[in-house]
Amino acid sequence: MHPPILLSLLPTLISASCVPLSSGSRGFRLVINVTDPSHDLTPPIHNTYFNLVHIGPAQNRAIAASTPGPTFYQNGTSSSSSISFTTTLTDGGTPPFPEGITYQQEATDEHGAGIYVNAGSGAQNVKMTRLFNPLSYLTILNEVIGSSFVGCNGTIPYYGSERQFQVINWVTTTRNATGTHLVIPEGCVAVNLVPECAVLEALPVDAKSSHEWAQEVRCYEGVRGVKWSGN
Ligand SMILES: *[C@@H]1O[C@H](CO)[C@@H](O)[C@H](O)[C@H]1NC(C)=O
Ligand SMILES: *[C@@H]1O[C@H](CO)[C@@H](O)[C@H](O)[C@H]1NC(C)=O
Ligand SMILES: *[C@@H]1O[C@H](CO)[C@@H](O)[C@H](O)[C@H]1NC(C)=O
Ligand SMILES: *[C@@H]1O[C@H](CO)[C@@H](O)[C@H](O)[C@H]1NC(C)=O
Repeated sequence: MHPPILLSLLPTLISASCVPLSSGSRGFRLVINVTDPSHDLTPPIHNTYFNLVHIGPAQNRAIAASTPGPTFYQNGTSSSSSISFTTTLTDGGTPPFPEGITYQQEATDEHGAGIYVNAGSGAQNVKMTRLFNPLSYLTILNEVIGSSFVGCNGTIPYYGSERQFQVINWVTTTRNATGTHLVIPEGCVAVNLVPECAVLEALPVDAKSSHEWAQEVRCYEGVRGVKWSGN
């Protein structure tokens, strides 16, 4: 599906990053990668999985978990169009229907926007980094400078105020008197959501979702075993 020019660039990028990166998967799971391991949460979330807890009909809150989360796919038409709307989907329910990764700023949430996976198309431009980036991880809004996913100690209203979760949020730069800064909130750690190649299972004939527009993404085999250079 890729134009040949993109494929011929891949070997260069793979050798530049020294990390095995596959170009050939449409399905992927997300692994949480703490980019500064000296600031992990307690218990640590490095190499845990992006997973979900149910909070309502076809609504789920993203959390860090020890068990693998759903298989996602990046949905959209060819990236050669400058006006391409790409979202990141999974299939929920029986028969399967699309659920998309989305984000929502909450009035009482000082930890940025919460990440959700809800029925529908998901938020626009939630997708993997592009080929010029030697690493592959999920971004929102075309890789805005100074924005990051974070893992945070937090609660989820559906489960009351006592039960603690390690929730996944998204923070963007905020402005204070000195200028513009990416502030990682108290109780949070910056993370990348790294795609681990997974099989995108065929859908049953009565499915309400479709894999027709699932794009191939650059993903890693066995993210938890990867030796990142510089470590
Ligand atoms: C994962 O985190 C390590 C540091 O723990 C970093 O060196 C590496 O670049 C990260 N990988 C990705 C794909 O974000
Ligand atoms: C997936 O992408 C195609 C092509 O852009 C679009 O027509 C379809 O509505 C998308 N699916 C969802 C669930 O958004
Ligand atoms: C603005 O935020 C940055 C980064 O957190 C901090 O170093 C700086 O002191 C802050 N400035 C003010 C005036 O609070
Ligand atoms: C996060 O919660 C854990 C226990 O659930 C606690 O040990 C830790 O100190 C908390 N971290 C922060 C930064 O609040």
